[in-house]
Amino acid sequence: MNICVFASGGGSNFKSILEARRDNFLNSDIRLLITNNSNCGAVHIAREFGVPVCHISRKVYPGLSDGEYAKLFLDKLVENEIDLIVLAGYMKIVEPEVVRKFSNRILNIHPALLPDFGGKGMYGINVHKAVIESGIKISGLTIHLIDEVYDRGRILFQKSVKVEDDDDEFSLQKKILHFEHKYYPFIIKKIEEGEIGLDE
Ligand code: GAR
Repeated sequence: MNICVFASGGGSNFKSILEARRDNFLNSDIRLLITNNSNCGAVHIAREFGVPVCHISRKVYPGLSDGEYAKLFLDKLVENEIDLIVLAGYMKIVEPEVVRKFSNRILNIHPALLPDFGGKGMYGINVHKAVIESGIKISGLTIHLIDEVYDRGRILFQKSVKVEDDDDEFSLQKKILHFEHKYYPFIIKKIEEGEIGLDE
């Protein structure tokens, strides 16, 4: 498969995917990084691994219609013959037209057990903070396909992680990220091998 990663932040999941490719655990080509933040950690990681970066944000292209804006993404995806989009800490909504054109071809990782602790504003550390504040004793991660509704779409994999009494949002984030780095490449491999079908 040809993969395009979308990322906005530190890029540690992106890095784990690149390392899995480098170590030949994955066979897919990581063709492109699309980011809305040209100075984020993921961009630096892309440079380190020689992956081309494409910066697309409303701030860079003000005044475009939704269709014109979506076309910026679609042109890049088609040009690079992308089969699978992998969201790795992408903090923007994927343009609905991109979701439609790449139906069942967009993977996301979320640092909690969806459908709990998902939805608007629920990204990164906010998720862990909400989990700690709720007093719940189990959190985890979810890998799922996205559709046009935030944090919805068919769940492919979940891993639960115990919340200890002395955990705060930062320690919980660290514990869950550790498993994200392990399982995101693992699930992509299962998709490569056809063990997980995207069209079911
Ligand atoms: C990860 O924990 C990922 O699950 C989360 O953002 C973090 C990005 O870290 N994604 C979401 O919250 C999506 N709703 P990274 O940039 O170091 O990979």
